[in-house]
Amino acid sequence: MDHFFYRENRLFCEQVPLDRIAQAVGTPFYCYSEQTLLHHFTVFQQAFASCSHLICYSVKANSNLAVLDALLRQGAGFDIVSGGELARVQRVGCPPERIVFSGVGKTVAEMRAALEYGILLFNVESVGELHRLNELAGRLGRRAPVALRINPDVDPQTHPHISTGLRNNKFGIPYSQALDLYREAARMAHVTVLGLDCHIGSQLTALEPFVDALRRVLVLLGALEREGISLRYLDLGGGLGIPYEDGRLPPHPGLYAGALLAEWANTPFAQRNGTLILEPGRVIAGNAGVLVARVEYVKEGEEKLFVILDAGMNDLIRPALYNAYHAILPVARRFGQEERVADVVGPICESGDFFARDRLLPPFQEGDLLAVRSTGAYGFTMSSNYNTRPRVAEVMVRGDRFMVVRRRETVEQLMENESLFPVEASPGPALF
Ligand code: LLP
Repeated sequence: MDHFFYRENRLFCEQVPLDRIAQAVGTPFYCYSEQTLLHHFTVFQQAFASCSHLICYSVKANSNLAVLDALLRQGAGFDIVSGGELARVQRVGCPPERIVFSGVGKTVAEMRAALEYGILLFNVESVGELHRLNELAGRLGRRAPVALRINPDVDPQTHPHISTGLRNNKFGIPYSQALDLYREAARMAHVTVLGLDCHIGSQLTALEPFVDALRRVLVLLGALEREGISLRYLDLGGGLGIPYEDGRLPPHPGLYAGALLAEWANTPFAQRNGTLILEPGRVIAGNAGVLVARVEYVKEGEEKLFVILDAGMNDLIRPALYNAYHAILPVARRFGQEERVADVVGPICESGDFFARDRLLPPFQEGDLLAVRSTGAYGFTMSSNYNTRPRVAEVMVRGDRFMVVRRRETVEQLMENESLFPVEASPGPALF
């Protein structure tokens, strides 16, 4: 459920018409509905109410401070993958015991910052990382809280770029090596083995892969128990899909939780009151945001009709990268006009710069506003400055009010860190 709807043929976000925001902040901009965000989080949270759990929202999906702050106030923890994301969750005041740190390439500096803050868990993805963390913790006079991320080798049946739980993916520790590595970790002087983690992919629309992965890791948990290694946390990652197209509905969080909890309920781990951690990203933020853009031109090609926007692939790269479908809605709905098949494209010099291809759409005209739906997750966070395009503004709506939660960048800012290399300059220590 979301809070984007038409009232008198104007598209609203909660109680604010999107055209009013466009007038105030210009286009393009991302617009987030706080109520939708919180609703999604609460539904997800409640689905796991019957067991001890921690919902660590995956910051990479949408890392705007206002988004993080709203979720934190609702009781969220966070799944981070970089020192930058750690800084963000620290900035909004997230307590360390609500942070888990994932990722295959953690640097020493990132590990140190997380150790010093005292986060809940490092989701360790390789032998090398485990050794590095142990040494560093020793040097800092600390113990590192660790979960091993296990690659369960199940097919998530999603786009290959966002599948992570197959044996040929770079993620996690191979299932066959897991037991040995747990034994080794349990003997390490500066590491406390607390958990097991697994994340198999993103935008999953079936429950079976989640259940298969859980069954596989429960077998491992059983084997660990028998060796006297008993864990406190089981982190099942994120990955639950969202509806992008009408009629193709992924399972509701309630069904997802039900399927997982059915497997989990009778395990010794659950009976000892172990804590389940989840790392949802897209399902919380995806349908809480839209990208609003203006039509610059409508161009009749020989074979196609092109609707050219002021937003481009640098603002939303999902169609180019995954051939992703995003619904497109007019901000002002008009009736009685025949729809036409068109390509909706951006101004960038690449044919991959599109939002929709061969899509039946209302007959957009120059100056019209439209909304690209389901872009609250992996929209702004994956945007870039390609073509020296400043990243767009982000706006949050709360009831009948809205606020710019990230100002539009300026071209001046984009050039700020650059310098000329003067031809006359003599080489010296200042020039490197
Ligand atoms: N946990 C870990 C360790 C992850 O790698 C991810 C996503 C998540 C949680 C959150 O997954 P979610 O619940 O959002 O599916 N850019 C792609 C998605 C990449 C997902 C990467 N990892 C897209 O736009 O579809």
